[in-house]
Amino acid sequence: MASYKIAVIPGDGTGPEVIAEGLKVLQAVAEKCGFKYSTVRYDFGGERYLRTKEILPASVIKEFKTFHAIYLGAIGHPQVKPGILEKGILLKLRFDLDQYINLRPVKLYDERFCPIKNKTPKDIDFVVIRENSEGLYKGMGEFKNKGTKREVAIQISYNTRKGIERCLRYAFEYARKRPRQQLTLCGKTNVLTYAFDLWERAFQELKKEYADVKTDYAHVDATTMWFVKNPEWFDVIVTDNMFGDIITDLGAMIQGGMGIAAGGNINPKGVSMFEPIGGSAPKYTGKNMINPLAAICALGMLLEQVGETQAGQMVEKAVQTVARNHLKDLAAGQMGYSTSEVGDLVMKSL
Ligand code: IPM
Ligand code: MN
Repeated sequence: MASYKIAVIPGDGTGPEVIAEGLKVLQAVAEKCGFKYSTVRYDFGGERYLRTKEILPASVIKEFKTFHAIYLGAIGHPQVKPGILEKGILLKLRFDLDQYINLRPVKLYDERFCPIKNKTPKDIDFVVIRENSEGLYKGMGEFKNKGTKREVAIQISYNTRKGIERCLRYAFEYARKRPRQQLTLCGKTNVLTYAFDLWERAFQELKKEYADVKTDYAHVDATTMWFVKNPEWFDVIVTDNMFGDIITDLGAMIQGGMGIAAGGNINPKGVSMFEPIGGSAPKYTGKNMINPLAAICALGMLLEQVGETQAGQMVEKAVQTVARNHLKDLAAGQMGYSTSEVGDLVMKSL
């Protein structure tokens, strides 16, 4: 019997509440599909930082490499200055574990949840593949004359041929396996004439190896327009780190909001980390009001990644059933059920 070691970081705010529901579902699906697992809990996040000033102990990266996957709730605390926990925990894990793909499915489960009129589940079913290790997130740059009237702040987008190519390769492989086999490069070749020139050249070159995949290109600004106007045009989209961050929040909205949006930080040959993308939602913390479906979807992605494909699909189907047949809305406090009741419904629908 297969057995998996999963590191769990419930994190801040509503993170622990939604992760608890995900773990309930994990237990149920493991019994149904006949695999074993063990979890180790880590309390990294705002509370620990405020208590001990410790963000992420150095030894932990090595430790995480011994797991099959990481399951993350949310990082971000209202009493901690923005950037400290995000950079010190979330981005550090992405970088140090070389999770160079950020995979974000945008899938509408029921037309009631879509804010755009006349769009149905068949119109909104695409995946954004965001480069997750370079670009503006590399943190390169400097201040000049800081604090003076002549101050300059420089923030560099760092793009390597190797980094772009491995991301594009993943995207082509991913697109190839989907029925429509269509891949869109999203960039800004008309202005970012260094970074996206390289992206574009690498894309054109790789395309020759993937003759079965239909390709096209869209500027990022136009992409946001088409997400709203013609989301049915998209199948798989590949883009850099910053643009991927931005367009996936819009993607989350057209699929019904942060209550349902999940993502995976993937190292195809290493340890990957899965999370609901909505953040810590401090105002809903402890109220049993937040929607756990995003975290449960993240669990489904985790299971697929470790090789429990059937279990992953069962979880996704159960989420879909609960969303369609039970929930009034996907937003916190408007579901018609509490956080834990939604978790129970998913378990029953497996
Ligand atoms: C995300 C988040 C993070 C990002 C923040 C919290 C650093 O917005 O996962 O999309 O910008 O990548
Ligand atoms: Mn984001």
